[in-house]
Amino acid sequence: MFTSPAGYPVGRQGGAPIPESGFVFVCVGCCCGHADRGGPKTPPRTLKREMRRAFRDSGVEGRLRLAFTDCLGPCSEANVVVLYLAGRPTWLRRVNDVDVFARILRWARGAVDGGEARLPTALAARSFAWTGGGEGPTPPIDG
Ligand code: FES
Repeated sequence: MFTSPAGYPVGRQGGAPIPESGFVFVCVGCCCGHADRGGPKTPPRTLKREMRRAFRDSGVEGRLRLAFTDCLGPCSEANVVVLYLAGRPTWLRRVNDVDVFARILRWARGAVDGGEARLPTALAARSFAWTGGGEGPTPPIDG
């Protein structure tokens, strides 16, 4: 079971632990997932369906919860995915195809299994800090 950054177990207050150890938030707001706005995208209306399938196939179901969200804020970084593991957010940008998403899930699976907590280099290039406001950082990668 995950513990919070302060060291206490993560679970429902006074009850059974929450089965999921974290969340995967996939933005499908005003820009993310829309081929006519933002950067390069998958064909229209395919990314969400493929991400759902990748999530099911990844083996993290029951340990992580997948949620599709409205705009998370940094539209300039579309397509945006946020992992919330052990009480910490990891923001990832340009998750423009399901293969990248599957790589993210493989890493997340390892992390919740107690494996490597640092992002692999290829995914680290997609990570960014976001505290809200502004246009977001200049992307270091294309596509
Ligand atoms: S629509 Fe995804 S960050 Fe705004």
